[in-house]
Amino acid sequence: MPEWNARQYLQFEDERTRPARDLLAQVPLTQVRRAIDLGCGPGNSTELLVSRYPSAIVSGLDSSPDMLHQARQRLPQCGFIEDDLERWAPTEPDTDLVFANAAYQWVPNHLDALCRVVAALAPGAVLAAQMPDNTREPSHLAMETIATRLGVPLAARADLPAVGNYYDALTPLCSRLEIWHTVYNHVMPNTAAIAEWFRGSALRPYLAGLSEARSREFLSEYLREIAPHYPTRADGKVLLRFPRLFLIAVR
Ligand SMILES: C[S@@+](CC[C@H](N)C(=O)[O-])C[C@H]1O[C@@H](n2cnc3c(N)ncnc32)[C@H](O)[C@@H]1O
Repeated sequence: MPEWNARQYLQFEDERTRPARDLLAQVPLTQVRRAIDLGCGPGNSTELLVSRYPSAIVSGLDSSPDMLHQARQRLPQCGFIEDDLERWAPTEPDTDLVFANAAYQWVPNHLDALCRVVAALAPGAVLAAQMPDNTREPSHLAMETIATRLGVPLAARADLPAVGNYYDALTPLCSRLEIWHTVYNHVMPNTAAIAEWFRGSALRPYLAGLSEARSREFLSEYLREIAPHYPTRADGKVLLRFPRLFLIAVR
């Protein structure tokens, strides 16, 4: 997986943090002793945990050194560890909240990983996760189209499993399980901003191995491809439709 870039990711910090706020708002815990933010990125989602649970021990986990560097600067009072969430499960018995905003979609077969995390929680503890469910959106289909046209290796994320598959796998481990979708319509200045947004996430694996010139070619073809799908609105802006899957699993 190519390296993440915290500065590129944070260009759309407000929009990217909104689903984390919406997810946290549904966590049914008034008191938390220990919380961990999986795939914490630059610490934007970790900061929300610190604000909501000021007396909790809050830590973050990520595989990207650049993201972790940003997170440590932002929240020096928290512990941040470099690890792979594919194999991580809680070991501290007072872990009341495992939070993962926009992270597990990068782990193929993450159903197993989610089950392992929930199984390791104490009764009443919570796993709260959100994953973009946008692989069939024009923004993502266009990446595959352009890669095929230019002979660039396909680097699409796998589609998320169906809601019923999450339900069937997790419900035997849970006292309560909520799964829902929210479709955001992010207001963007233009389609170039959509390309910028995804240069911070889904376009990275496509662009990582390309020369500067090939990368420019890919991006200009990508912009041409997505333009008809994101028409200019009354105020001159465009709407980025962005479906996301949320789940709250209470052990
Ligand atoms: C889209 S960012 C989410 C950042 C932050 N949680 C937020 O709410 O905006 C995804 C993060 O997951 C991390 N990540 C991806 N795959 C991972 C893995 N297998 N193990 C640990 N972290 C991973 C990336 O390094 C990145 O920082």
